[in-house]
Amino acid sequence: VSEAAANIGVVGLAVMGANLSRNLASREGNTVAVFNRSPQRTEALVAAHPEAQFVPAFTYEEFAASLQKPRTAVIMVQAGAATDATIDALVDVFEPGDIIVDGGNAYFPDTIRRERAVRATGINFVGAGISGGEEGALNGPSIMPGGSDEAWQTLGPILRSIAAVAEGEPCVTHVGHDGAGHFVKMVHNGIEYADMQLIAEAYDLIRRGTGKSPAEIADIFAEWNDGELESYLIEITAEVLRQNDAATGKPLVDVILDQAGAKGTGAWTVQTALALGVPVSGIAEATFARSLSSHPEQRAAASSLPGPSEQPAVADEAAFIEDVRQALYASKIVAYSQGFDEIRAGAAEYGWTIDLGAISRIWRAGCIIRAQFLNRIADAYAAESDLALLMSAPYFAEALAKSQEAWRRVVVHATGAGIPAPAFSSSLAYYDGLRAERLPAALVQGQRDFFGAHTYRRTDRPGSFHTLWSGDR
Ligand code: NAP
Ligand code: ATR
Repeated sequence: VSEAAANIGVVGLAVMGANLSRNLASREGNTVAVFNRSPQRTEALVAAHPEAQFVPAFTYEEFAASLQKPRTAVIMVQAGAATDATIDALVDVFEPGDIIVDGGNAYFPDTIRRERAVRATGINFVGAGISGGEEGALNGPSIMPGGSDEAWQTLGPILRSIAAVAEGEPCVTHVGHDGAGHFVKMVHNGIEYADMQLIAEAYDLIRRGTGKSPAEIADIFAEWNDGELESYLIEITAEVLRQNDAATGKPLVDVILDQAGAKGTGAWTVQTALALGVPVSGIAEATFARSLSSHPEQRAAASSLPGPSEQPAVADEAAFIEDVRQALYASKIVAYSQGFDEIRAGAAEYGWTIDLGAISRIWRAGCIIRAQFLNRIADAYAAESDLALLMSAPYFAEALAKSQEAWRRVVVHATGAGIPAPAFSSSLAYYDGLRAERLPAALVQGQRDFFGAHTYRRTDRPGSFHTLWSGDR
């Protein structure tokens, strides 16, 4: 190892770290030091990519010595204990002014804790959400860094050079201090869960409503991808539906076990939203839908419970499919509105200044939820940066007004046919709940006052009131 040869280092060379290292090495002016706990991975990466001219290190001391000062290293190891162990090892060999970036999928409270602990040593710590999977890591991810302004000064140019580019703009912004980047990455994943579930519900409704084959439905999704729904997830849905299984020749979607897994980021989004009091009902339903699918014993136990005695007919297939498209678009608006609401609330709770328009712009490329639609969100925040509710911005309000009748017809059809559409229907309930002039929350307040003397406020005068109920004990 030549002394201080590298300007940036990567620790953790599994698929994400290896690809990020190659991405960094491919940019003009970078020399990349690489380290992995198990030396075989380091050797394999260096051997497979001589063009990258990596500087391999086999101990943390060697790794630190190979980096120019102030040192910058990106950790791409498993979230949790592995990340803590790696940070501890780096803190031992790094010096004040150096920068440690955690690019893994850390839970944001861990990032807040780690930032505080590392900062106390004089070393900068930046939790950065990195989205786009292995392909994004290699060719340009969407990057959501938190951490200090000082660290951003150094990191900004290097992250801009490796990020995906949308309409000429690199998909990276300094999200906010300490855990803000990982918070926003978490919500990104929550929105991703909702987007995927909504697409799955649309597919199911069309398949059961019209009897079309997966390949025929693939054509419908491909067509939708030319319109306002244009997005990576719609595009890959068409490809997944078109795929036939090599072994059986059947549509692959019919061979895949219908139990959806989860790594936990959707659950984090929902747990955090519950703690913040933000109703992210679409994201929650999407997360619960995965859980529901993954309980075969309960599904077997429920399989003999009755459904509707008659199936509602789909009289006009084309009209029904267009209704489903509109319901999908409306529910998608709700999911994003809820996600941005959670970011707004998280920023207020944790003291972050987050530019919501900038977040929508860095999600336009490189990440799983990339979509045309994000330009409309950027427009909405450009017009009004402190929008109280994204879905009430003029463009979205108009889109919802146009699609709400179709949305209702689809939810009615799903209910009548016994087809579960939890994300479609909960999104509609959220829409109707927020726009209602009066909510039965008044009755809930009355009940609370009755049994617990919790008091209520009145519509006609200020103050707190308690009624001496006839049943008062
Ligand atoms: P991974 O399977 O999550 O992690 C494997 C890496 O962690 C290996 O380098 C492994 O080293 C290292 N590691 C595990 N335990 C360790 C310990 N105690 N001390 C030091 N190193 C340890 O790899 P990945 O899929 O490339 O993901 C890396 C990170 O990026 C994760 O936080 C992940 O959540 C996040 N991420 C993944 C994706 C994706 O699509 N896969 C997308 C975005 C973000 P050894 O070789 O020595 O075992
Ligand atoms: P991205 O930001 O690109 O979406 P991600 O958050 O890591 O990256 O997740 C991308 C996909 O890879 C998700 O399907 C995720 O699982 P969840 O749907 O349960 O969140 C999956 N994924 C993430 N980390 C993974 C890992 N270490 N091993 C396998 N799959 C993983």
